[in-house]
Amino acid sequence: MEEQVFFMPRIGEKAPEFKATTTQGEINFPDDYKGSWVIFFSHPADFTPVCTSEFMTFATMEKAFNEANCKLLGLSVDGLYSHIAWLRTIKDKIKYKKMKHVEVTFPLIEDITMDISKKYGMIMPGESSTKAVRAVFVIDPKGFIRTIIYYPLSLGRNFDELYRVIIALQTADAFNIATPADWRPGDDVIVPTAGSCGAAKERMESKDEMRCYDWFFCTKKLEKSLINKKIIKNK
Ligand code: BEZ
Repeated sequence: MEEQVFFMPRIGEKAPEFKATTTQGEINFPDDYKGSWVIFFSHPADFTPVCTSEFMTFATMEKAFNEANCKLLGLSVDGLYSHIAWLRTIKDKIKYKKMKHVEVTFPLIEDITMDISKKYGMIMPGESSTKAVRAVFVIDPKGFIRTIIYYPLSLGRNFDELYRVIIALQTADAFNIATPADWRPGDDVIVPTAGSCGAAKERMESKDEMRCYDWFFCTKKLEKSLINKKIIKNK
C-alpha cells in the first residue's frame, strides 16, 4: 500500500490559508483574524464525551480569551448539520461539573473533505485516519504560528494551560523577556542572555533588580498588574 505523506506546518511559519464553512458562517483564514491572536484547534468527532467536556470548558472560558485579544476557532471532520445538532444538544441538555446551558458561540469548521485538517497536520493515521487528533495551533496577530500542541484522542486538553500560553507569548513580546518553567503572571521572568563578555561580567557584579543564577540565567520581577494593564482588556 502506498504510504500517505501529510504536511505539518511549523512554529515560526505563516499559518496556511483556507476558506471554510463554520457554525458562524463562512471564514477566510487567517485574513479575517488579522490583529487578533487565535487558538485554532481540532477535535476528533461531534457527540463524543471528551470533546463535549472540552467544548463546554472552552466556551465557558471564551470571554477570558477574548479579553486577552484571542479568538477561538474549532474544527472537526464532521459536517455542518452534525456540528449544529451537537452544539444545540450541549446547550439544551448537558450539565457537566458546574456548567449548564453552555452556548458555543465561537466558529466550528466543517471539514468533511479533510482538506483543512490535512493542511494543518491534524490527521495522524497511527491514531486515526478518519478523525483529527486534538491539535492546537496558536497563531499571532500577523498570522504566524507561535505554538503547536498535540494530544491523542483519549486525552482532554488543559485549558488553563492554553490560557497560560496566550498570556506568556504576549508577555514575552510586550516586555522582551522569556518565561521560565511553570511561569504564571506575577512570577519572575527571564531577561535576554548577555551577548558579550562585558555584559556577562556586568550582570554578575550588578546589584540592581536582576537576580542572576549564573551569567546566562538572569531573572527580574514583572508585576502582574503591569502585564494585565498591557495585555488584558478591562484590567
Ligand atoms: C471523545 O471525545 O470522547 C473521543 C473521541 C474520539 C475517540 C475517543 C474519544
